[in-house]
Amino acid sequence: MNEGDTEGIENEVIEENINDSSEDAETLHWIAVIRCFMCYKYYSNQLFDYKKSRMESLSVDYKKLLPKSVLNPFSHHAILGMECNHYFCEAIVRCQYLSLLGPPVSTSVSLEGISDRDITGIPVSMLERCKAVLHSAYREWSKEAEEERNQCHTPILQQLAKWLPITSKNKYKLRVSVPGSGLARLAAEICSRGYRVQANEYSVFMLMASNYILNNCHRQQEIYPWVGSTVNVKRVEDANQSVLVPDINPGELIYPHDAGDLNPVFSVAAGDFVQLYGPASPCGSWHKGKWSAVVTCFFIDTAPNVIDYVKTIHHMLEDGGIWVNLGPLQYHWASEVAPTSASESSDSRYERSIELSFEDILEVLQNAGFELLEQSWHQCSYALDRNCMRQTIYNCGLFTVRKIKHDP
Ligand SMILES: C[S@@+](CC[C@H](N)C(=O)[O-])C[C@H]1O[C@@H](n2cnc3c(N)ncnc32)[C@H](O)[C@@H]1O
Repeated sequence: MNEGDTEGIENEVIEENINDSSEDAETLHWIAVIRCFMCYKYYSNQLFDYKKSRMESLSVDYKKLLPKSVLNPFSHHAILGMECNHYFCEAIVRCQYLSLLGPPVSTSVSLEGISDRDITGIPVSMLERCKAVLHSAYREWSKEAEEERNQCHTPILQQLAKWLPITSKNKYKLRVSVPGSGLARLAAEICSRGYRVQANEYSVFMLMASNYILNNCHRQQEIYPWVGSTVNVKRVEDANQSVLVPDINPGELIYPHDAGDLNPVFSVAAGDFVQLYGPASPCGSWHKGKWSAVVTCFFIDTAPNVIDYVKTIHHMLEDGGIWVNLGPLQYHWASEVAPTSASESSDSRYERSIELSFEDILEVLQNAGFELLEQSWHQCSYALDRNCMRQTIYNCGLFTVRKIKHDP
């Protein structure tokens, strides 16, 4: 990962390809993710050492020109930052063991048996994903990112309130699905407005971290989302800024006192969106027509083929059900180059990628049985480090559509 991509979204969304969906392969994947969280500090230290050694290898002449601090990047703050991030990562893992969620990692492996320094066999791309979790924790659960959340969450919540208003009669009865929920802040916000919400996420990193934040983060924790960054940095201290997460007690958002016997009103479904909710899923018939609304935020471009999402959402929604979407079209599986005979074999999702324009998607929606209710544009950032010299703003497309036809 390019460190300058701190506000980029590509690294957050591409989960390792688990082609083998056997229980063993799944358990191994969960264990690999746990090892990544456990080794966060060791891996970050290694990266620091590597960068430091490059500075030290400069000639005396060159070194004389440099400020002293550059030769000793292990400032007190940077060390503290990595330590705090390490506590956060470790807390995520401990919470996972306590909650017995997911594959049976809690019974088959002991936490003590996992070294916090053994990164053998773990791909760097996977080790880097702990940073993506820290960036998402900043985006979704810090006070500092409130403005960024308002940019995308406010228009979505306004559309929901307009087209699917909560009344005293329907409170906590309307089902809303939030696929690609990340650390579940938007899902929690929707729940707090009186909807019955199911978040959906397939990244084991995100699932473990959201489990921790939603269920066990009893006090605020300090994290340093940008510690170790060396690209597009204005001042070294900028990379050592910390934030507290969560900015609000998640329990107060998602476990409303007035839900009565309608509790639980919030759940998280782990797995691939299309495989869980789509017509071909083993649970497909259960989901058919069961949902009043689907909300997608920075999600539809994670599909190799966005039409799969369109068909899945059409299948899930009841007649008259609403889909609110907001996000860019970054198309995470798009290749910028044509494959050649010398190309290395890669994730097959790249080979299936189709990239439609926003206008084309609107046409697909109408052909698939939706009517367009509203469309607008919104300037949004994504896990933006305000001090960074690179500032990416997405011109996000919002659409609200309503399902008009019965499934064929
Ligand atoms: C760009 S992030 C957006 C997260 C969140 N909605 C937000 O706005 O902050 C996209 C999320 O979708 C998840 N995701 C990608 N493909 C998915 C799939 N097929 N099924 C479920 N989740 C998926 C990724 O793991 C990631 O957390």
